[in-house]
Amino acid sequence: PPHGGFANEPLTDFAIAENREAMLAALAQVEEQLGGEYSLVINGRSVQPNLNLVSRDPADGVTIIGKAPAATPRDAADAVDAAKKAFPGWMRTGAQHRCEYLELAAEGMKHRRFELAAWIVREVGKPWGEADADVAEAIDFLNYYAQQMRTLAEGRVVDVPGEHNVLSYRPRGVAVVIAPWNFPLAILTGMTAAALATGNTVVMKPAEQSPVVGALLMDVLRDAGIPDGVVNYLPGDGELIGPPLVTNPDVSIVAFTGSREVGLAINAEAAKTPAGQDHVKTVIAEMGGKNAILVDNDADLDEAVLGVLHSAFDYAGQKCSACSRAIVLSEAYDDFMKRLKGAVASLQVGLPKDPGTQVGPVIDATSQARIAKALKNLGEEVELAATVEPGADVPAKGHYVNPQVYAGVSQDDPLANEELFGPVLAVIKVKTFAEAIEKANATDYALTAGVFSRSPENLATARRELIAGNIYLNRGCTGALVNRQPFGGFKLSGVGSKAGGPDYLLQFLVPVNVTENT
Ligand code: NAD
Ligand code: ALA
Repeated sequence: PPHGGFANEPLTDFAIAENREAMLAALAQVEEQLGGEYSLVINGRSVQPNLNLVSRDPADGVTIIGKAPAATPRDAADAVDAAKKAFPGWMRTGAQHRCEYLELAAEGMKHRRFELAAWIVREVGKPWGEADADVAEAIDFLNYYAQQMRTLAEGRVVDVPGEHNVLSYRPRGVAVVIAPWNFPLAILTGMTAAALATGNTVVMKPAEQSPVVGALLMDVLRDAGIPDGVVNYLPGDGELIGPPLVTNPDVSIVAFTGSREVGLAINAEAAKTPAGQDHVKTVIAEMGGKNAILVDNDADLDEAVLGVLHSAFDYAGQKCSACSRAIVLSEAYDDFMKRLKGAVASLQVGLPKDPGTQVGPVIDATSQARIAKALKNLGEEVELAATVEPGADVPAKGHYVNPQVYAGVSQDDPLANEELFGPVLAVIKVKTFAEAIEKANATDYALTAGVFSRSPENLATARRELIAGNIYLNRGCTGALVNRQPFGGFKLSGVGSKAGGPDYLLQFLVPVNVTENT
């Protein structure tokens, strides 16, 4: 396989009739299973203390996708306890075996590919292609971390006359995995797979908005034969069970992906060492972005418009990698805006379950209200330059936000600084490429950035000077693939090494060197 011995799971081509039919059949099957009841899983036992977490279809705000328990702090303590007890056995299972479990789980996901994608469509409102990519990425994480762990398990030997040195890696202990809803399968799977491959045991906490997809992942892992207690499934309210999980002295790793506010709070809490804790916790916190794409005077504007359009509006802008700022050089500006307006006007905003839909709803009413609030009281110079209405079949209670492009945005405007996490793009006009770089870098975040330019000199400047973890030249800034584009940022976009990259697993491990006098 290409790319350093790792082959990414191919995306499904929905232009092929057979694939379209399989997806429609999966959606029909899911429709019949809507409203089901799910459980916590602690030490292999399915527990249903309540059904207080009700997951609803964001496309209509009404249909119940499923009901799951909202775990209590007591459940959180039990789940950590179960993971702690399972740790010695899982650590001794050995890397080879652990990796086989992960590869079996990847196979399980392949068999259930359309079904998993259909649940993602319904639970978090992803259009088909996005939902399919979410499942493909989850499969990639399982296979990639298994492959990486096999390499790490070889250790490193340094022999000199009279001395044999072996550097090897041990797991840390219990990992708490706290995930967002926007990649409800891929991100939850990725952090969990990394912890498991490295021999840690896991308490898996999905976002409140996506407990059903989380429960399906738990199913896949159990079907792969992963022993009881090694992964525990704990849906619930993050504000209620997050703090007791993060501060639990038996937890060694907190792997979090989500908002900056929560990530920073977790980082602070986890830094404390309560009585009974004999280690410093490792925190991995992947957080938000305010990502820019720069459009140079000599850019190929057909490419630039498409790159910006997809990066800003795919999955309604709800990706940490999404482009929320286009920084456009003045000579290209009018032409770029004209074409962008046409492209936005032709976006199909509709129901995620319809194959032609390009933009669906945002995740929930809270998100819809937050975006609406941010778009009130914009600066005087800010004007709505392009937008499009949803199709007529979109239910009134669906959480839709019209895709919107704002022009005349200045550097001080909140639109240029705050992560909105919705289908809203701010366009900033600049005179020089140096100014474009300066504006791109003038945020607290450093996650993704893109540049469209034909100038080798400007591309070289961008490589060197853009402050972002993932820099894309002449393409959009979303859609990182495992291994090909190890993903993650720095500054206030996160702490920790890149997901889907060669350094990621090291964070879950303790290096130990053994020297023998021979
Ligand atoms: P969020 O921070 O609201 O929630 C994320 C998770 O944290 C959820 O499981 C939630 O229940 C939990 N949580 C909430 N309060 C907590 C607390 N006090 N202690 C512990 N856990 C708590 O984020 P979200 O709305 O689910 O996701 C959107 C955000 O995630 C955006 O900011 C986006 O940029 C970011 N994100 C980042 C990446 C990345 O790789 N950098 C990827 C995806 C999403
Ligand atoms: N990894 C996802 C992307 O690159 C967030 O879009």
